[in-house]
Amino acid sequence: MKAQDISREKSAELFEKAKNYFPGGVNSPVRAFKSVYGTPLFIERGDKAHLWDADGNEFIDFCCSWGPLILGHNNSEIREAVQAQLAKGLSFGAPTALENELAELIISNNKYVEKIRFVSSGTEAVMSAIRLARGYTKRDKIVKFEGCYHGHSDSLLVKAGSGLVTFGETSSAGVPKAFADETIVIGLNDKAALEQVFVDFKDQIAAVIIEGVPANNGLLIQDKAYIQFLRDITKSNGSLLIFDEVITGFRLGFEGAAKYYDIQPDILTYGKIIGGGMPVGVYGASAEIMGHISPDGGVYQAGTLSGNPVAMAAGIAALSILAQPGFYENQEKTTLAFVEEIRAFIAENNLEVKIFTLGSIFWFAFTSLDKIQSADQIEHESMGKYKIMHRELLNRGIYFGPSGYEVGFISAAHTQEDLSTTISAIKEALLIAFE
Ligand SMILES: Cc1ncc(COP(=O)(O)O)c(C=O)c1O
Repeated sequence: MKAQDISREKSAELFEKAKNYFPGGVNSPVRAFKSVYGTPLFIERGDKAHLWDADGNEFIDFCCSWGPLILGHNNSEIREAVQAQLAKGLSFGAPTALENELAELIISNNKYVEKIRFVSSGTEAVMSAIRLARGYTKRDKIVKFEGCYHGHSDSLLVKAGSGLVTFGETSSAGVPKAFADETIVIGLNDKAALEQVFVDFKDQIAAVIIEGVPANNGLLIQDKAYIQFLRDITKSNGSLLIFDEVITGFRLGFEGAAKYYDIQPDILTYGKIIGGGMPVGVYGASAEIMGHISPDGGVYQAGTLSGNPVAMAAGIAALSILAQPGFYENQEKTTLAFVEEIRAFIAENNLEVKIFTLGSIFWFAFTSLDKIQSADQIEHESMGKYKIMHRELLNRGIYFGPSGYEVGFISAAHTQEDLSTTISAIKEALLIAFE
């Protein structure tokens, strides 16, 4: 049965006001709810797995601030660590012991990086990693994959051209064509295309960049053999392999997708979870590669608020909890049980929808395919069903990301009760989406 639409009076009012201040009324485009029904909800507070909006509606949250909140909202240990640091100062523009402490937590639990640099966002981490790769190899071109998002720096806002292997085309106004010419975009899971790139642009490719597990355009889980192919072909051509683990880092475990595939990339980038909800990004590599970063090396990168003490304190508190034995195993078990119960319902009702999952990430795909590994396998029209499901879930107190291309996250704060309530709501929402 259709649930009554939630009241959005105050959110709608705030949105109208916000439009006077911000383009589209938001500070990041997907928040504008363009792909789903209604106006965006303005959030007032969060606690554990729950959110409350300006109209007093309560939701169980599966967006989790787009990934950082693996411990849910208002985690007491993170809150107390932040409060303790607030009393000492917000920013010094000088080193603190907190940076060492967070770095130690990361490096001693992650064999894939020897040295790291803290920045303030995932975008900044990836942008810096690309510069490092170019500086290190003394080459300019990079290869990225259609369907992978790496933040909004110029080199990466590039989409595929029309041929199998072409220069990219800018995917945003304002990105110079000359920049797009340095980025080659090909399809995921297409070995021939990458082989062709290395023939066509011999000795010109600085790096191939891939999301650890692509999770920004659906959840496109790649086969290990393909990632091994990326490792081998980059190595044999003197190019670097970059894993952008801004989503998968500290989500699939401390060692992220690198461990999942058991493959050593040359440079890794992180963000989201690492700051416990505060703005932090990281890039890291071997000591030898990182030795090319200033002030040791010639690749310049800096930041007024890099290694910010409040963000470091939040990150230390968060990662200390994640480092406890069994944390990730529990997350995975909980997520799988949640997904399996919905899958059983889908099978009983013969609905054309799949749930792909890895660790505590899940994605609903309205498809008949059993595997989706490249962006072109996602049917745009199928998003109409997600749109209905999203509306019906909101009306039942469940908050999913406002686009069918986005994945959902289960946090350690989601209780069995939260998950049972959600499963019931999803069953009803799916039946309505297929009416
Ligand atoms: C894989 C990946 N890389 C980079 C970014 C950019 O990170 P940020 O939004 O913190 O700049 C994101 C953001 O969603 C991401 O998912």
